[in-house]
Amino acid sequence: MPNAYISGTGGYVPPRVVTNDDLREQYGIDTTHEWILQRTGIEERRYAEPGTGSSDLAVPACQEAIKNAGITPKDIDMILFCTLSPDIHFPGSGCFLQRKLGMLDGDDPKFVPAMDIRNQCSGFVYGLATAASMVRAGGYKHVLLVGAETHSAALDFSTRGRTVTSLFGDGAGAVVVSATDEDRGVRNWTLGADGRGIEALYLRVFDITRRPYLKMINDDKMGNGIVEPPDLWPQMEGKPVFKNAVERMCMSLMQVLWEKQLSAKDIDLFAFHQANMRINQYVAQQLGLPEEKLLHNIQKYGNTTAATIPLLLWEAEKDGRLKRGMKVAMVAFGAGFTWGAAICDW
Ligand code: ACO
Repeated sequence: MPNAYISGTGGYVPPRVVTNDDLREQYGIDTTHEWILQRTGIEERRYAEPGTGSSDLAVPACQEAIKNAGITPKDIDMILFCTLSPDIHFPGSGCFLQRKLGMLDGDDPKFVPAMDIRNQCSGFVYGLATAASMVRAGGYKHVLLVGAETHSAALDFSTRGRTVTSLFGDGAGAVVVSATDEDRGVRNWTLGADGRGIEALYLRVFDITRRPYLKMINDDKMGNGIVEPPDLWPQMEGKPVFKNAVERMCMSLMQVLWEKQLSAKDIDLFAFHQANMRINQYVAQQLGLPEEKLLHNIQKYGNTTAATIPLLLWEAEKDGRLKRGMKVAMVAFGAGFTWGAAICDW
């Protein structure tokens, strides 16, 4: 059975920087830089321009990951696209990405499978487990795994939505998961879900139990109407999300360490999902992890959901912090609730 290792990383964030002060000054939200920074650690985030979808953000991230893996798009055997902000409701963003990467161009189009993973902030860890399983089973040599989000299209830019709106940003991070006979790669993982947490964080604009599935006010029965604001924007109860995030992140991290008979001291770098700096500091404190082993980018990008962990890996590899031979632990928690952790030898 081959091992599955991360052979290349890539990332992309849109150029437009939106600071905490911009949320107040440009969007008129009643907030302050101090409130957001103190509660979340976020200083600024990136927003994509209208006309840009998550697959557009994914393209440069994937191109870089593919190049760094030393292969071409036509060498990719499968696409896994993790997102909670897909380009359209269906088909999945993986199909958009396949086309935009040029995999279908020329005389030898490659009709590789393209699958979307809809596990929100845990999407990347779910995707890594799926990619590693595919590679280890011998089915595929190179799986392209990307997390990409365009949150700025679906945030409530009024004071009513300030709690959620101040948290999220746009971006994409990608890796190639490849087969190797070397003794390295994704060692183990744990994944979990608890549907009792659905109502703590959700966006229900599309609800198939309704007729029609978009709930509209002033509906003239011809499909013309206005979608009610609570349906249009994500809804969150911050405190239960915070509490569950801390518990599940601690537990799943401890589980993957225990399974491999490792202690936190054996880990060189921790790539935590970037939802809130305070969540991560709390988890690190509970497990006694030294600050210098933790990767952060929430201050620059906010919560980019499925993109946070691959963006961290990409940046750490670029700046030399993440090197061959290191042991990396990843952990994520998100809407659902869902969570996951993995250990990877770089
Ligand atoms: N600026 C100023 N005031 C604000 C803002 C803001 N951006 N947002 C909320 N407030 C106000 C509230 O309206 C409230 O005012 P009130 O007391 O007059 O009603 C007050 O601040 C306190 O609000 P709380 O929601 O109680 O604040 P809390 O201390 O819980 O912090 C926060 C909110 C930061 C969202 C916190 O609960 C949290 O981080 N939770 C986890 C969220 C998270 O991680 N979500 C994503 C994870 S899952 C995923 O990534 C998909």
